[in-house]
Amino acid sequence: MTNLEAGSEAALVELGRRFLYPNYRQPDLVLVRGQGAVLWDASDRRYLDLYAGIAVSALGHGHPALVRAVSEQAARLVHVSNYYFNEPNVRLAARLCALTGMDRAFFANSGTEAVEAALKLVRRHFFAQGQRERLRVIAFHNSFHGRTLGALAATGQDKYREGFGLLPNVSHVPYGDLDAVRSALGPDVAAIIVEPVQGEGGVLPAPKGFLPGLRALADEHGCFLIADEIQTGIGRTGTFLAVEHDKVRPDVVVLAKGLGGGVPIGAMLCTRSLEGALPPGSHGSTFGGNPLASAAALAVLDTMESEGLLAAVRARAGTLAAGLERLAQRYPKTVVAHRGLGLLQALVLAPEVDARALVSDLQKAGVLVTVAGACALRFSPPLVITDAEIEEGLSIVERVLATRS
Ligand SMILES: Cc1ncc(COP(=O)(O)O)c(C=O)c1O
Repeated sequence: MTNLEAGSEAALVELGRRFLYPNYRQPDLVLVRGQGAVLWDASDRRYLDLYAGIAVSALGHGHPALVRAVSEQAARLVHVSNYYFNEPNVRLAARLCALTGMDRAFFANSGTEAVEAALKLVRRHFFAQGQRERLRVIAFHNSFHGRTLGALAATGQDKYREGFGLLPNVSHVPYGDLDAVRSALGPDVAAIIVEPVQGEGGVLPAPKGFLPGLRALADEHGCFLIADEIQTGIGRTGTFLAVEHDKVRPDVVVLAKGLGGGVPIGAMLCTRSLEGALPPGSHGSTFGGNPLASAAALAVLDTMESEGLLAAVRARAGTLAAGLERLAQRYPKTVVAHRGLGLLQALVLAPEVDARALVSDLQKAGVLVTVAGACALRFSPPLVITDAEIEEGLSIVERVLATRS
């Protein structure tokens, strides 16, 4: 018997090390509660949350609106399956279509599943039209679209793909290179899938003109444009979708992460032209769009509106950008650049810096951030973070950077 009853952090870490599948690299700490942009571990140490569970906890932790919505919905109805409509789900579908300019919503339980639905959607559309060979998808080097075999086939980073034997029919071309996309296009291409900011790839915003250029190329070739807004959507970049910065309307939008504020839910939204592509029986999900997750998502959307979170993100993004720029200038040996959009920003570290070791030093100093790509220190705080919390976080980051220079 372990000393689980004692509930000490060390005992919980020991259980995790012994029984969890060892595919992650957790440090020796257990997070037990949170409030706003602050988290506490089982030893009652306090951390500023500048990563939001990988750009997920849009409303931070313990937001009363999310707590109330989930509690009330849990008491009323948690699950019915898609054999029947459920109220929060139909309301959520209508709301998301209104917010994104899309016409139809399919619900899943994660980002990867939403991507999977989008890939199946565009392929089956052409199949139904008798274009059975029109299966190819153009994706980008350095992209991340998820980890099922289909979504992984679209992901453009070897470190995630290696060893899994991937599905064919995806071409990868350099991000930002419209000529390369043009060359890769052909009558067998069903869709182009793109992140408006490459998140996992290292927080790389699309170069100016790239997304409108993709829209034009997709139209020229009669293929679809899928915007993977799983990391960038739900206000993270200061507009509801990141494609709004470029006034681009995709044919398909995939969402997850911030949508449920931490409750798992993914969504694949599409325009009317694709509404017949997946007839009943062709695709589905037991849990997708369940009342609990849908109620959580509605609470996130309500709160974004009632608290003016899009404007708040734009204001906080300025504070974060100014602070990170200052750090880039003060510590040029460690930080070679600053980049990002909205509350998805990064310090690009010099190649010789061990990014994971720096994340670990920051965690010990009381700030939680993540590594994206090979060398980007990613900041993706809750959208409700305050300027004071950002400044506090930046001063801790500065203290840690100072000890290294
Ligand atoms: C752009 C993008 N697409 C897809 C995914 C996969 O989402 P999930 O981990 O919820 O399956 C992620 C996750 O990081 C992502 O950032």
